[in-house]
This record gives sequence, C-alpha cells and structure tokens, in this order.
Amino acid sequence: DGDVYKYYAEGEWKKSSSGKTVSIINPTTRKPQYKVQACTQEEVNKVMDTAKGAQKSWAKTPLWKRAELLHRAAAILKEHKAPIAECLVKEIAKPAKDSVTEVVRSGDLISYCAEDGVRILGEGKFLVSDSFPGNERNKYCLSSKVPLGVVLAIPPFNYPVNLAVSKVAPALIAGNAIVLKPPTQGAVAALHMVHCFHLAGFPKGLINCVTGKGSEIGDFLTMHPGVNCISFTGGDTGIAISKKAGMIPLQMELGGKDACIVLADADLDLAAANIVKGGFSYSGQRCTAVKVVLVMESVADTLVGKVNAKVSKLTVGPPEEDCDITSVVSESSANFIEGLVMDAKEKGATFCQEYKREGNLIWPLLLDHVRPDMRIAWEEPFGPVLPVIRITSVEEGIHHCNASNFGLQGSVFTKDINKAMLISDAMETGTVQINSAPARGPDHFPFQDPLLQQIFMVIDLCWPYRSHYTLPKNIINF
Ligand code: G3H
Repeated sequence: DGDVYKYYAEGEWKKSSSGKTVSIINPTTRKPQYKVQACTQEEVNKVMDTAKGAQKSWAKTPLWKRAELLHRAAAILKEHKAPIAECLVKEIAKPAKDSVTEVVRSGDLISYCAEDGVRILGEGKFLVSDSFPGNERNKYCLSSKVPLGVVLAIPPFNYPVNLAVSKVAPALIAGNAIVLKPPTQGAVAALHMVHCFHLAGFPKGLINCVTGKGSEIGDFLTMHPGVNCISFTGGDTGIAISKKAGMIPLQMELGGKDACIVLADADLDLAAANIVKGGFSYSGQRCTAVKVVLVMESVADTLVGKVNAKVSKLTVGPPEEDCDITSVVSESSANFIEGLVMDAKEKGATFCQEYKREGNLIWPLLLDHVRPDMRIAWEEPFGPVLPVIRITSVEEGIHHCNASNFGLQGSVFTKDINKAMLISDAMETGTVQINSAPARGPDHFPFQDPLLQQIFMVIDLCWPYRSHYTLPKNIINF
C-alpha cells in the first residue's frame, strides 16, 4: 500500500523515531500511493539546531560558491524531471505534461535565483551624516545585507516543487538555512527535489525536509523559536500562522478570486481562450486561476457561447493520459466544490453543462447568471467550476472585484488600452493582466499578495493591436 519515504536532516535520509507514517492518497485512484515519515517534535528540535549551525558557516561561504551549488542542483533537477513529474502525477493528479513543466520551470528558477543573488546581494549603502539637519560630516554609515538565519518554507500541494524552490533557492543564495515542510500531497515530489540538492553537495544540515502530521508538528514548526522567517503559500492556514508566529518576517501568498472583466469591445475569441485556459488549467487548482468572469451584458451571450464551445473540447480523465481536467486533490476538496455548485443551483444559476462527478473527478462546469448572493460569487472553489456574472457597467465589475476578500490577480479584456489602464489601476489586486489570463510566471516577475496594494500590470505581448498602437504620452512610462 505504497512506498515509504524517509525525511531529510543533517544531510541524511532518516526514518522517524515515531515509527509512524502518513499516507498519501492518489487523488485519481483514491488509494494510498506513498507513505512519508511522521516526524516528531524532538526531531524538529534537532533539525532546527543543526540548521542554525550549518547556516553560520554557509553565511560565510562566498556567494559565487553558493551560486555554483544552486546551478548544480538546478541541472540535476532538470535531469531528473521524469521521475519527479511522475510523483506529481500520482500525488496531486497534475497532468503529465504540466508536471514536467513544473520541474523544468523550477530548475530555471533556481538558476535565475543564483544569477540574481550574485548581482543583488553585493548592494549596500554608504551614507554621510551631514545630509541630515544639525549634523556635521563626522559620521559614516555603511550598510549591507545579511541573512535572516533559518527560513521555514511551507509550499502548497498544487506546486510542491516549484513553490518550494521559489522559497528554497532565494533563501539559500542569500545565506540562509532551510527547513522545508512540504504539503502531504506532494511531499514525495518535494523529497525528490530535495534529493537533487543533496546530490549537488550542499553542506550537511543546511537543507532539511521534515514531513508529518500538521496536528503534531504544524504549529510546533511555525512557533518554533529557531525559525527566523516563514515563507508560506496556501490558504486560510496562512492567517492562523500569522497570528501564532513570533516577531519574525512572514511572507505569505494566500488564496485568490481572480476577476476577469470583459468589456463589450473585447476580442471575444481571445477572451474565451484565456478564460478557459485561466479557469480550467490544472482543473482550476491554481491561486491565479480565473475564478469569476464579469462580462458586459451586451456581449455575455456571445462570450458564454464561445467559452462553452471550448469547454466541450476539454478532455476529462487520468493525469497519466495528460487529460485537461483531472481529479481534484482530495475528497474533501471535491465535497467543498460540490457544496458551492449546489448552493448556486438552489439560488438559480444557469448550468451550461450538466454537473457530473465521479469520486474526485469533477467535469468542467460554467455557471452563468451567477448573482452576488451565491457563495460561488465570492468563494474560491479551487476546482473546475467557473462562475459568470453579467454586468451592465465597468464600475459594477470593478466594484465586485474590489469587494472580494481576495485580490491576488485580475484581468481585463478590451481593445481600448486607455480603458485597460484605467480599469487596471482601479482594480485592487496585486497584478492585473491586460488581454491575458492571470498567471504568476514568468517566475522572475513580481508576484505578491494584494494587501500590499501595489499594482503591477502585464500587457500580453500577443496583444493584437500593440504593434500599431501609440500609447498616449501621459501613460507611456507606466
Ligand atoms: O497557485 C498558485 C501559484 O502561484 C500559481 O502559479 O500562475 O504559475 O499557475 P501559476
């Protein structure tokens, strides 16, 4: 009933003294696929101690050497993309091709961090005191960047490799040690990724990966005095972590309810293609998935028709066969999605397809005429179900977007670049994509939680009018 994997500490693969394991259920077969160690609190204590020790000498290791090891890990990871991708297929039912892409993209990100780190970390400041009132030129200030210490990295199930390396690689290049707590679904892919770092030859104890039950080691890890920074990607757990963690920097990327505003002048074929890609890739289990379409009533029938035509072409089935729609990660997730669908049904949403579910597999579903009193208008299904709200003014769309608790990304479809810019500016989200689906990548682009309210706009290079469009002077420097 599944291969048993060890955890990684002090540069070695170890069995937990608990004698217990945690089962990883294959979302497709709903049978145990793998088992990982149920680490104990004592083991976490030991890991924290050794990480701290290893970090001290790592911080003194020249940057170019740190970068060299990261480049080596990236190469090893990419070399082993096939077996790691296979774990993703089995553990989180990610379609086969997307699984390979996740691993390759992760290797590229590690290399990028190595390159970027070498250039950025040398920056420092030199200040002279006489620029502040009342001071003579008799004091100099030198500042430089120093590592934080031990970084606790907690990635989510949907990108257990990529969102692990997006924490691990920057932390390492900056001279920190890592304690990685992978999600249970995805833990084995993450352990394989850690093995690539092991093979690259990083110092013992610098990188650690503990697995186990959240109830046993979750709070213990996040409240551990040995942790100097937490980088977490996931859902509401992030809120709980932020309340419990001590006086340490927290970096959180939580949920999203990315709104896609479609204006009457939009290229509706382009919008439909992006809505389907954005809403249904990896069965909607992406924080940046399109999670609500806000379309002008005058073009809603046409848009919905075009989206439906594309939805009918999505393949549904096992990830091994590279189907577009695969089982959602767990039974509880499928039940939650079903709850949102049933609520919308009771309240009168139009079902563009018949609701169909077998085990954890939910067929793609577009819900039209969704109204604000329905849960799906606001909640994040993290599944292949997409609500459409018809609007009669742009303001209504912006209002809905800004009334949401989430605001990770958003998108706007229009041929009028001036309107696109103004709407993007009005949308209170971390990023706005113009004429393109929300997405985190390329991975070196800024990506952050909405609470910071920094607006970042991405114009799709495929913008069909861009080549012969002159931006007005007042917005050319955005
Ligand atoms: O699920 C959250 C991820 O950060 C989304 O990444 O836009 O590359 O799918 P993605």
